[in-house]
Amino acid sequence: MTHALNRTEFGDNANKGNLISLEEANQLLNDWVKSDSLKRHMRQVAAVMKAWAKDVDGLDETGQRKWELAGLLHDADWDQWPDDHCRRIIEELERRAVDPEIIRAIASHGPRFFGVEPVTQMDKMLYAFDELSGLIHAYSLMRPTGYDGMDAKGVRKRLKDKTFAAQVSREDIADAAQRAGRDLDELIAFAIRHQNV
Ligand SMILES: [Fe+2]
Repeated sequence: MTHALNRTEFGDNANKGNLISLEEANQLLNDWVKSDSLKRHMRQVAAVMKAWAKDVDGLDETGQRKWELAGLLHDADWDQWPDDHCRRIIEELERRAVDPEIIRAIASHGPRFFGVEPVTQMDKMLYAFDELSGLIHAYSLMRPTGYDGMDAKGVRKRLKDKTFAAQVSREDIADAAQRAGRDLDELIAFAIRHQNV
């Protein structure tokens, strides 16, 4: 396993409920991430996560913020320290005494790489929306109308075409949808609706 974290516990339970502000999270993102497209990806995943927490799981504002922060920071160490992904952001959030649920979700967003199984709803949905969101955005860039009029059927076609956004793992997308117990078309339609930020 290339990025195995070799850990199963993340954060400190004493920090439960400790959320950093969106301002602080954006500051961290801007300090650490140099790539504009990666920043956009993280903002898009954050928007979808927040919307899911609110609309589907019916969480209050604190719950929504947790999901949003997990999405916003999950790849914070990716472009500058790819060999250290995602150990570095995990340790930084532990240092900042962030709620362990957020750290755990980030640690489990790539079970094949980090060796951490997604367990909570937040874990599972971050894993589910990460790769999917990237593929949907790539699709929007090749459509004359971008996100306008995009539907799940078109995205599924792109999923089948293995040469399109070839770096996006179809295997992970299918695995994540199955673990989330959700229909892939539902996840696609939800992401299309919420990620255009
Ligand atoms: Fe990501």
